Amino acid sequence: MFLKSLNPADVKDVALAVRLYCEDPSYSLQTFGRLPDTESSAEIIRACPVGCLPEDRLAFAAFDKADPVALLRVLRRWPEPEIATIGLLLVSPRDRRRHLGCQIVEQLSRKARNWAGIRRWRIVVLEVNQSALQFWRHLGFDVVREGQSKPDLKSTLTVMEREIKHRPFCQRPGHQPRQELAGKASWLSARLPRP
Ligand SMILES: CC(C)(COP(=O)(O)OP(=O)(O)OC[C@H]1O[C@@H](n2cnc3c(N)ncnc32)[C@H](O)[C@@H]1OP(=O)(O)O)[C@@H](O)C(=O)NCCC(=O)NCCS
Repeated sequence: MFLKSLNPADVKDVALAVRLYCEDPSYSLQTFGRLPDTESSAEIIRACPVGCLPEDRLAFAAFDKADPVALLRVLRRWPEPEIATIGLLLVSPRDRRRHLGCQIVEQLSRKARNWAGIRRWRIVVLEVNQSALQFWRHLGFDVVREGQSKPDLKSTLTVMEREIKHRPFCQRPGHQPRQELAGKASWLSARLPRP
């Protein structure tokens, strides 16, 4: 698994981000109450909040061999100089629960050790997004604030943080192989009529 940096000015990189973001319409529905379209998806890597310098707005695609499997957005030194906020981590639905998310955060943490002055990760999660809350807890993030609301979001928010320099939290080495074909085969054989 490796992380490829995405350039918001490169049409191919934007197209890849849009493709990955649109693979899971339920994330946009749960977060904003609407299906993703090309423009709102492109904004995921283009948008730069007030107070964040363009060079600190980072986006990555994670690849498993040649396959793009996740989209990641990071805002360095935002909203405070010593914090890097993970604005989004979205793993393709077919690749979830393979410990790819864990591996992505650990690889990113290795990169982040070279970011001068940045000590902590921050993540802001919708309180209704229980699977994400469990995922970030699994990676050692602690709740620092709960119950914040924003007018454009569908649920209140939980803010979580973790030190960047830390031993890997997940004890499962590497990521798991894709179960897709094995799963499909057993599903089929369970349903085929017997001769
Ligand atoms: C949250 C998300 C990034 C997790 O990615 P992932 O690659 O599937 O997660 P991992 O396989 O690395 O999971 C590691 C651990 O996190 C926890 N976890 C992950 N997904 C979970 C779920 N749906 N329910 C409960 N626990 C979960 C488990 O402890 C898991 O370990 P286990 O499988 O050995 O039990 C992914 O589900 C996703 O992209 N969701 C949609 C977008 C989103 O909500 N992103 C987070 C907000 S920014």
